[in-house]
Amino acid sequence: MKLSIVGAGYVGLTTAACLAQIGHNVFCSESDLEKLAQLQDGKMPIFEPHCENVIAAARKANRLHFGSTEDAIAWADAIFICVGTPPLPNGDADLHAIEAVARTIAKRASGYRLVIEKSTVPVQTAAQLRKHLSVHRTNGLTYEVASNPEFLREGTSVEDFLHPDRIVIGVDSSRAAEMLREIYEPIIQQEFTCPVHSNCPKLKDPIFLVTDTNSAELIKHASNSFLAMKISFINMVANLCEVVGADVTKVAQGMGLDPRIGAAFLNPGIGFGGFCFPKDVQAFIRIAEKSGCDFSLLKEVEKINEHRIEHFVEKVRKELWVVRGKKIAIWGLAFKPNTDDVRFAPSIALVNSLLNEGADVRAYDPEAMGKAKALLPNITYCSDPYQAAEGADAILIVTEWDEFRHVDWNRLRSAVERPLIVDGRNMLDATEVTRHGFYYVSIGRSPVTPGRPPSSEQHVLVSTDHDGNGL
Ligand code: UGA
Repeated sequence: MKLSIVGAGYVGLTTAACLAQIGHNVFCSESDLEKLAQLQDGKMPIFEPHCENVIAAARKANRLHFGSTEDAIAWADAIFICVGTPPLPNGDADLHAIEAVARTIAKRASGYRLVIEKSTVPVQTAAQLRKHLSVHRTNGLTYEVASNPEFLREGTSVEDFLHPDRIVIGVDSSRAAEMLREIYEPIIQQEFTCPVHSNCPKLKDPIFLVTDTNSAELIKHASNSFLAMKISFINMVANLCEVVGADVTKVAQGMGLDPRIGAAFLNPGIGFGGFCFPKDVQAFIRIAEKSGCDFSLLKEVEKINEHRIEHFVEKVRKELWVVRGKKIAIWGLAFKPNTDDVRFAPSIALVNSLLNEGADVRAYDPEAMGKAKALLPNITYCSDPYQAAEGADAILIVTEWDEFRHVDWNRLRSAVERPLIVDGRNMLDATEVTRHGFYYVSIGRSPVTPGRPPSSEQHVLVSTDHDGNGL
């Protein structure tokens, strides 16, 4: 079967790369001509672990080509739509790119096409696509529309694609279901050369779930919204822990041991970001509203998340007293580790808030500084965590890059003006940090002072200064 992928963003590129990796012939298109030229030149427009190697190998094997959307559509039997659906000002998903692809399919394709929406779209988009294709088709096009939502996390998207928990397809005919099953068969059987694990065990038995298109579309929005709700829930629990002197790490551990709750996505912090959760929660609220359902639960999820930045800045204020004129090191700008993506990253709102208060911000991120520069032009970008910390009054951890766990604490101690770490991701070991003379503030746990044991033995209800005196 000849497969086309329209749109070479994180989802499209991963899909194209992995479908070629499992043996298909794939044509991937991109409308941004600069990006297309980069891809045709063997360069990667994004940082995504394993993607570059998989693409290079597939191109060498002549199984992956990049080109125009028109050519992709004319060539394929099945077309995966992977274009962006960014939020409109009112929270609705902007579907104009999807509509443009549908229009091109209607104009350019002849014979049968299976049109598969992989972009995250509101429920009933497949129905709209069917209508649109029927109205605009020429050249004797026959078609079916299927929904195949993706559950790929940035930073681990290749692994997620090849070793999924589930593959969800929404179809309205057995022909479409059979075609999609054939496409995914190597993944369902876990029979392919794995580019992620050197000695790949049969990690999972993916469930192939077949449903109608409306349900498949809803599965995607409901899944992302539920995960976002888990994060906001634990963030509120963290706030409570700070007030009553409990340890949110222990609370989350105790909750997560119940298999009905599960341990994943109970890490408190400065809030969820990225191009998926914020926009998908918004879009889901709007979908519900337009259907006459008041999903106010999700409005709270959003509100709690928006308040995370102010809550974090308040922690910084509490320690620094006056923020104006203070040198603040920001460790991490990406919305999460192992990606260079800064779209809707908490770092953006945080840095802007600190700049508004007159702070001198020095930032370091191993991958995201290139993309951050366009959004945050007025800060100093540094080549490593030590340079960012030079003369700093506080180090703020915003993204939990593994690199930050392995810094030379002695070197760092002599670089800073004041040994204060405010860890927005609860990623560091409080005992180690304080052993090196740092005062350690985190989320949902009591601050820890050098020379004093961390919160399991020390329940500090009020903030203390670096010597442990109550403030
Ligand atoms: C998310 C979903 O996890 C994927 O299943 C989905 O396919 C994808 O959106 C999408 O819709 O395309 P992603 O946005 O890449 O994936 O990132 P996540 O790992 O889910 O993290 C999202 C945000 O939540 C990050 O800012 C992260 O730091 C934050 N987070 C996550 C927490 O604050 N606490 C947690 O416990 C987990």
